[in-house]
Amino acid sequence: MLSIALPKGRLGDKVYKLFADHGYPCAAMEQDDRRLVLRDEASGVQYLLVKPSDVAIYVEHGAADVGVVGKDVLLEGGNDVYELLDLGFGACNMCVAARVGFRENFSAPLRVATKYPNIAKQYYANNSREIEIIKLNGSIELAPILGLSDVIVDIVETGATLKQNHLEVTHTILPISARLIANKASMRFQAAAIQPLLTALTTQPMEGKNS
Ligand code: PRP
Repeated sequence: MLSIALPKGRLGDKVYKLFADHGYPCAAMEQDDRRLVLRDEASGVQYLLVKPSDVAIYVEHGAADVGVVGKDVLLEGGNDVYELLDLGFGACNMCVAARVGFRENFSAPLRVATKYPNIAKQYYANNSREIEIIKLNGSIELAPILGLSDVIVDIVETGATLKQNHLEVTHTILPISARLIANKASMRFQAAAIQPLLTALTTQPMEGKNS
């Protein structure tokens, strides 16, 4: 069976719909239960429901053959996998944001709060700017409000979280979207299963069949 790691949650729901619309349905996915491995014998696929930030780890180690992951997670993890396809959804931007009207003090290291220390370090290294990273795991927008950091490096989708916390984007680092990734060995040994999936995902959806 081809093992596909899907991110649980918002992104995962969209990904599953995409797969179903392109000929890879899974009846078990429609049931609201706590199973983490869901099989579809007809298509020869099993879905592994994993935390979004863990998808690339499962794929890199071969626990899953392919997976769907945000470009943000992929860049941050630096995982040794093949990136096969930009799925085009989950679109947002990786940005630097600060309090509205913030003035940067260039004579001191910039204090950067983020869930993405590697992306932030790379960005500021490219700009020859000395920084201090404050690694957080969520609610990043709180950091500049409380004076814990000068700026944040985070994803911005609608911009609502920034706006409601009186922050604004000062720089856009790069656009982000969902990517289909594959384990390097699986690309050789499971090519007969991965190639049809790739073809299906890059052709028109099978409208009405699974929706
Ligand atoms: C993400 C991100 C921002 C927010 C951006 O947080 O870290 O906080 O979404 O979305 P917006 O521009 O549409 O407001 P997430 O919801 O993943 O929660 P977190 O704060 O726990 O990371």
